[in-house]
Amino acid sequence: MRLPRWSLPDRTLHWVTALAFLWLALTGLLLLFGRAALIPYVGHENFSPLAQAAKLTHNYVGPFVFLPGLLLMIARWARHNLPTRVDVAWFKAFGGMIGDRHPSAGRINGGEKAWFWLLTLAGIAVCASGFLLDFPFLAPFRETLQSAHLVHVTTALLLSAGALGHIYIGSIGTEGALEGMTTGEVDETWARQHHDLWLAELREARKT
Ligand code: HEM
Repeated sequence: MRLPRWSLPDRTLHWVTALAFLWLALTGLLLLFGRAALIPYVGHENFSPLAQAAKLTHNYVGPFVFLPGLLLMIARWARHNLPTRVDVAWFKAFGGMIGDRHPSAGRINGGEKAWFWLLTLAGIAVCASGFLLDFPFLAPFRETLQSAHLVHVTTALLLSAGALGHIYIGSIGTEGALEGMTTGEVDETWARQHHDLWLAELREARKT
């Protein structure tokens, strides 16, 4: 049996924010390392328009696509991500890497909750510092901008590392998970293996 997991607004929000994030990561890395990594291969004259396009789109996609996406994700999904005792047991079993069965989980498991809160906290820091870098006249001191640069680069690299883990686990790492975020529905067997308490809640709700 197929079970509804992510609605169309949820999926649209996920993919628009994810694409914005990936564009920011790509253009951010190009601005950070491009001079050293690309100029020897493409030359100054080709790197210059590339860097200009990266900077311009980075400055607009951040505040106008990623930030609203992040705030909507927090508003719509924070309530599913509140930590519970079940998550402690989930982490003790390393999410199923230890032992021969998947630990119990509700709608969202401990690992997904960790990604959600990392994204929330580091995402707010990356957006707030980026906002100052976009509008430097708002910074009271020159040192404020230096700190904003440090915070922006550190949190962006942290988020990129987290995103790599999330993308691996959400695609080839967990068979059946991506279906939920593309079609909106998951298989009952997948729900029993990965989110048994959520399946029990759905069944209970159907009875009433
Ligand atoms: C592009 C590759 C990506 C893939 C394949 C992917 C895959 C997925 C999947 C399958 C889920 C649902 C998991 C489930 O049903 O339990 C999910 C949830 C989620 N994804 Fe992604 N994702 C990607 C990129 C991103 C990026 C870049 C972000 C951050 C901006 C992101 C943020 C989230 C969040 C916040 C959730 C909800 C987790 C929760 O409520 O705790 N994803 N993703």
